[in-house]
Amino acid sequence: MRIFVTGGAGFIGALAVWRLLDLGHDVCVVDNLSVGHQAAVDRAAHLAGKSVEFYPCDVRQTGQMIEIMQSFHPEAVMHFAGLKSVAESVSSPERYYENNVQGSLSLIQAMQQCQVHRLVFSSSATVYGASGTPPFSEQAELGPVNPYGRSKWMVELMMRDVCAAHTDFTGVILRYFNPVGAHPSGQIGEWVQGSPNNLVPYVMGVLQGRFDRVRVFGSDYPTPDGSGVRDYIHVLDLIEGHVAALGLPAGLSVFNLGTGRGYSVHEVIQTMQSVSGRTIPFDVVDRRPGDVAISIADPGCAERLLCWKAQRDLTEMCRDVWNFAKCSPRGYE
Ligand SMILES: NC(=O)c1ccc[n+]([C@@H]2O[C@H](COP(=O)([O-])OP(=O)(O)OC[C@H]3O[C@@H](n4cnc5c(N)ncnc54)[C@H](O)[C@@H]3O)[C@@H](O)[C@H]2O)c1
Repeated sequence: MRIFVTGGAGFIGALAVWRLLDLGHDVCVVDNLSVGHQAAVDRAAHLAGKSVEFYPCDVRQTGQMIEIMQSFHPEAVMHFAGLKSVAESVSSPERYYENNVQGSLSLIQAMQQCQVHRLVFSSSATVYGASGTPPFSEQAELGPVNPYGRSKWMVELMMRDVCAAHTDFTGVILRYFNPVGAHPSGQIGEWVQGSPNNLVPYVMGVLQGRFDRVRVFGSDYPTPDGSGVRDYIHVLDLIEGHVAALGLPAGLSVFNLGTGRGYSVHEVIQTMQSVSGRTIPFDVVDRRPGDVAISIADPGCAERLLCWKAQRDLTEMCRDVWNFAKCSPRGYE
């Protein structure tokens, strides 16, 4: 297929580009490089032994999106472009609504104009909010508790309306749980400038000597060791979910992409210690506002209808992150 990838210079997008090229698809990448790195796209193409079209553009530039689509003629769009920091979305909500919501609307308008009828969207488990009981099925009550989650929810609602109005449109909403890992070559992974909000990139920074100690937020959650529990999924498993989504029929589909199994913060730190052979110093501090105790997917729907199941365990995720930390000590420089 001819696949248009937005945000393809970012962590998940670049690995998707690699996998799509590897499978023999033609790929065109659009990324404004606000966070991502063109070197990630170059590495993806190099690893696959293929070439890729790359445009340093913003998805909010509808006219440019139309021009690129008119020359590339995509059959499907994978929409990874977006901002993803919960904390930043609380302090700058306007930025998140403009980038994530307006950007997605602009993309959908360009798709309509160019007769492109298939969209796979990166949503997030944050749409479930804090009140439900995990594991979350796709039918669980939605209620995101921060602007980032609400921006994802708004795009989901927009896609629902677009699919209802245009019966030839295929909209696939993929709700990611906690993607971690890297390409096994150590060439593509998650590289965060500054201080990351997520645990695994932070642990990686400690292993690389960029940060002194990991902060473990909370010791009194109702979990076996008192720290938060998350459903970590290897990014390469996550991408297989996107590949499976390319074959879905018209209409709206919503899937959780998670493993159905949770790990605590301490379990992740221990696993990173054992794969790296290094000690990871940490401090236990107060809970962080907005964090929930446990977030775990019910992946049953994706297993049944998408014929997809995560294959890789936490050790493999941590091993690939450690390998990326060693092979790319300065990220994409
Ligand atoms: N990584 C996670 O933990 C996680 C979890 C749930 C959902 N998601 C979603 O998955 C998607 C990809 O996440 P990621 O981890 O690869 O993030 P990332 O920040 O590494 O990549 C996002 C990419 O989008 C680009 N971008 C941002 N705004 C853009 C715009 N307006 N126009 C063009 N390009 C733009 C950035 O430059 C970056 O390369 C995001 O939409 C994110 O919200 C990520």
